[in-house]
Amino acid sequence: MKVAVVKESRPGERRVALVPAGVKALVAKGLTVSVESGAGSASGVSDEAYAEAGAEVAGSAAQALEGAGLFVHVNPLTGDEIAAIGRDTIVVSFLDPLGDADGIAALARAGLTAISMEMVPRITRAQSMDALSSQATAAGYKAVLLAASELPRFLPMFTTAAGTIRPAKALVLGAGVAGLQAIATARRLGAVVEAFDVRPAVKEQVQSLGATFLETEYDVSAEGEGGYAKELSEEQHQKELELIASHIVSTDIVITTAQIPGRKAPLLVTEDMLKTMKAGAVVVDLASESGGNCALVRSGETITAHGVTIMGPVNLPASIPHHTSQMYSKNVVTLVSEFVTEDGVALDFDNDVVGPATVTHGGEIVNDRVKQAVTHASGGDHG
Ligand code: NAI
Repeated sequence: MKVAVVKESRPGERRVALVPAGVKALVAKGLTVSVESGAGSASGVSDEAYAEAGAEVAGSAAQALEGAGLFVHVNPLTGDEIAAIGRDTIVVSFLDPLGDADGIAALARAGLTAISMEMVPRITRAQSMDALSSQATAAGYKAVLLAASELPRFLPMFTTAAGTIRPAKALVLGAGVAGLQAIATARRLGAVVEAFDVRPAVKEQVQSLGATFLETEYDVSAEGEGGYAKELSEEQHQKELELIASHIVSTDIVITTAQIPGRKAPLLVTEDMLKTMKAGAVVVDLASESGGNCALVRSGETITAHGVTIMGPVNLPASIPHHTSQMYSKNVVTLVSEFVTEDGVALDFDNDVVGPATVTHGGEIVNDRVKQAVTHASGGDHG
C-alpha cells in the first residue's frame, strides 16, 4: 500500500506528518511512502533526507496522493484535500471531530475511512499514539517561554551586587498535559508556581513538580468520562473564581489551559480580576481558540488591557516543528501499526484503539459521539 505525505496547507503550519524515521518504519512494514517535495522543509527535513529514508519524492501533492491507500496528515483536511483523495483511502490526522461538523460530513460523503487523532483513547496502551498529549506538551512549554519573554521581570531569583531579585510567581489553571508541562517549565526557569484543576487526581502530579495545588473548602471538582473534566455547576464556578481571584493579585504569569472536550472553554480570569493584577503581568491563554479562559483574549493576538498583557497564541506546536513533527510522526507510525502488519492492511473495528478513533467509514459517520456532534451542529444550522 502507498502512503502519502503532503505539505500542510494551514497558514502558519510548519509541522509534517511523517519524518524520515517514520518513513523508515513504514517502509520496513512493506509500505511505500510518497512525500510531496518540500513537505518537510518548514520543519527542517529535506527531500534528500526523505529519499535516504526510502521515500519517493513526488513533484506535487496530487502526485503523492495518486493511488495512495493511506494519507497521513497533521491538520483537518480542506475540501480540496478531501477532493484529491480516492474513495476508501484511510486518512490519519487531527480532524477536530467534535468541532468541525462540515469537515466530518465531507469525509463521510467522500467515502473515506477517517481515523481521528483526537479520538485515540487516553488508555495506557495507546500513550505512544496520543498526539493530543505530544502536541500539548509543546504548547505548555512554549506558553511559558512566551510569557517569560513578555514579562518585564526575571523569572528566577537572583542575588546580585545590584540587589536581590525575588522570583516571579506563576499560576497555571488547568493541569492536564499542557498545564503540567507549563508548571515544569516555569519551575525550571525558577518561578514559584501555583496551580489549580477541577480534577483532584492531578493534585499529586502538581505537587511532584514542585508547585502548590490551590485548595478551597468548597468542593470544586468535576471529573467526567475518560478522565476528562466536565462543566462545573454555576455555584462551583463562582467558588473557583473566588479562589483564583484571591491568588491572581500577586501573580506575574498566568497560563490557562482549561478545556472541556466538545464545549466552550470555561472563563477563569474575569475582567475584574485583570484589574487587580500587577502592572506588566502576563496571561497566556491556550484555550483562546475554543472561547478562551481569559476575558478580553483575542485568538491569535497579543493585547494589553488594565496593564496586563493578554496573549492568545494559536497552534503553538507549529512553532517547535522539529520536535513536534518527530513526536507526531511517532504517534502516527504506532497508530498505523495497529492496522498494518506484514500480512497487509486489516482494519479491525473491534481493536480498542482503531475502533474508537475511526470517525467515518463506508460513507457513514461511525463514532456515536461524533455523529451526535454533527447532528447537533446541522440541527443548529437549520434552526
Ligand atoms: P484538556 O486539554 O481537555 O483540559 C486541560 C485541563 O483543563 C484538564 O486537566 C481539565 O481537568 C482542566 N479543566 C477543565 N475545566 C477546568 C476548570 N473549570 N478549572 C480548572 N481546570 C479545568 O485535557 P488534556 O490535558 O488533554 O487531558 C486531561 C486528561 O486526560 C487527564 O485525565 C489526563 O490524565 C488524561 N490523559 C490520559 C492519558 C493516558 O492515560 N494515556 C494521556 C493523556 C491524558
